[in-house]
Amino acid sequence: MLASEVPLQLYRNKAEAVRPADDRTETIDGGAVDLLKIYKPLDVHCLGLAVIERKHRASWRWGLGPRTTLTFRLEDQQDVVLRLAFDSPFAGQTIQVRHNRALVATLTPGKAPAEVVIHGVGHNVLHLDYSHWDKPPKLFPNDSRPVAARFSRLALASADGGPLRFPTDSTVAFPYVGSPIENELLARREYAEGKTVLRSLPPVVTLGLTTRCNFQIPCVICDINTRPEEADSSIEAVTIEKAAPLISTAKRLLLHCGGEAMMSKYFDKVIELTSPETTVQFNTHGMLLTPKRADRLLAKGSAIVSFSLDAATPEIYRIMRPSGHFETLLDNIKYYTSKLKELGRPQSHTRINMTVCETNVKDVAAFIDLAHELGVDDVVFSHLNEGLEHVVETVDGGIWDYTKECQFADPERHDDLVLNAWQRAQRIGMPMVFVGPPFLGSRAGALKSIAAQMAAVPFHDRDEETWRSAHHKRYHPDLMPCFTPWQETVVQPTGDIRMCCFHDESKFTIGNIVQNDFLRLWNAEEMVTARRAFFGHGVAPRCHANPCQRCRH
Ligand SMILES: C[S@@+](CC[C@H](N)C(=O)[O-])C[C@H]1O[C@@H](n2cnc3c(N)ncnc32)[C@H](O)[C@@H]1O
Ligand code: SF4
Ligand code: SF4
Repeated sequence: MLASEVPLQLYRNKAEAVRPADDRTETIDGGAVDLLKIYKPLDVHCLGLAVIERKHRASWRWGLGPRTTLTFRLEDQQDVVLRLAFDSPFAGQTIQVRHNRALVATLTPGKAPAEVVIHGVGHNVLHLDYSHWDKPPKLFPNDSRPVAARFSRLALASADGGPLRFPTDSTVAFPYVGSPIENELLARREYAEGKTVLRSLPPVVTLGLTTRCNFQIPCVICDINTRPEEADSSIEAVTIEKAAPLISTAKRLLLHCGGEAMMSKYFDKVIELTSPETTVQFNTHGMLLTPKRADRLLAKGSAIVSFSLDAATPEIYRIMRPSGHFETLLDNIKYYTSKLKELGRPQSHTRINMTVCETNVKDVAAFIDLAHELGVDDVVFSHLNEGLEHVVETVDGGIWDYTKECQFADPERHDDLVLNAWQRAQRIGMPMVFVGPPFLGSRAGALKSIAAQMAAVPFHDRDEETWRSAHHKRYHPDLMPCFTPWQETVVQPTGDIRMCCFHDESKFTIGNIVQNDFLRLWNAEEMVTARRAFFGHGVAPRCHANPCQRCRH
């Protein structure tokens, strides 16, 4: 639906003034500034332009009378195209477009986008002068804004199809810092100084390579069993290219995204792009971590690899992960851990994980012994995530029912088995973590202190010790402050970015790195406003809708 098909009444839902869900249909050249995607880009100063609004699949923003002004600097002379489409509730509306005071076009409303070419110079002021706007007696008495024209398209692009050349020395076009160590120091300094517009890149980057998996029969626990194929995506070369500065500057690069990162054809390329100081982190089914690929991964830097097994025996493994091969996986892990020991990489870490359910709970103690045999650093258990309810046939002809598997017919037996695993882990000195409450039966209260010891995450950066800012009001005295708006970004395989993986992708995507330079998105109005909210209240409104584990503690 086009904005022009939405009745010309006013909608003001500032809370939803974010990227519309379908804006990829409005893709324009890389390096362009699309004012329907970024509310306030830093390199184009906008006056007389209301927030981005949307209804259903349409998005628009109002130009406010008497004039909308777009001001920007260019490195040198460059022909710039102003693309716009608008309608207006005022009969006879015209827009006079002036560039540095000279009249360059007079436009009337229309569905088809108009293109106005201007000869850009060092300093550019574009005026859009409206002939009519809402003034007393008001056409829209309940809206104080002097609305004039409603834009369904408003963008600036280079006439030659290349990027707009904004000056690199301006306060809005920062050079990339490069080294992960220097970048993190700068990020910490900027946070300590109370900055909300940042030169530093996020030291922690989550880069989703794919939501797909090469396992023909999905693991019984996986939501791939329920997801429609068209919901999946994999990263493309152009996205990797755009993300390259982020990858090489990241101190921690998390390749989590719901699929099997190692099946992406760009996995090796991404590893190649990392710096020696980068620690790469991902979960894997491990079948693709062949000795050759392990050597490539180890040749680069440090890695935190969590192998998902969900079983300690081949029989249970076959039920839980029917497309894997238990013996090959154990060989892959053994090769990887032994090479890692040879190389002596103190920042690297290897673990095995099990998602505990009714079918595999009997394997938990044996899982500790297996970890020891494989030479990994620790074991991570968790229960099944909430929210799924699929039923699948297993390879041994049985039925695996998500709801029943979550419930545990005998919670006391479950707790005995977990306690047994804990005692074994203590005896052999194997760190054991349980994400979420480990005990489910009547003794859960009495076992609280053991549960607390299992909750301690080994090898976790205590950022609180190094990240400090007098400007940051704490959300709660007992909670660790959250540094995410200064530290992290999440890049989906589509190139969409958001601040935090706990934020709803459909609501809180900031923009797309294929369409926009990352630094412009990183310092877009939404990000700056969120950082201000963290300084003022320790959290931003977008965090409340989906509180993170950190907030729940
Ligand atoms: C979705 S997988 C993707 C990475 C990789 N393919 C793997 O299996 O490790 C990421 C992690 O989520 C776990 N997982 C998958 N489905 C789950 C569920 N329903 N509840 C809890 N954890 C789950 C997997 O065991 C794995 O450790
Ligand atoms: S290997 Fe990972 S992504 Fe693939 S089906 Fe299993 S849990 Fe899902
Ligand atoms: S959801 Fe939680 S982790 Fe994410 S930014 Fe908000 S407070 Fe931080």
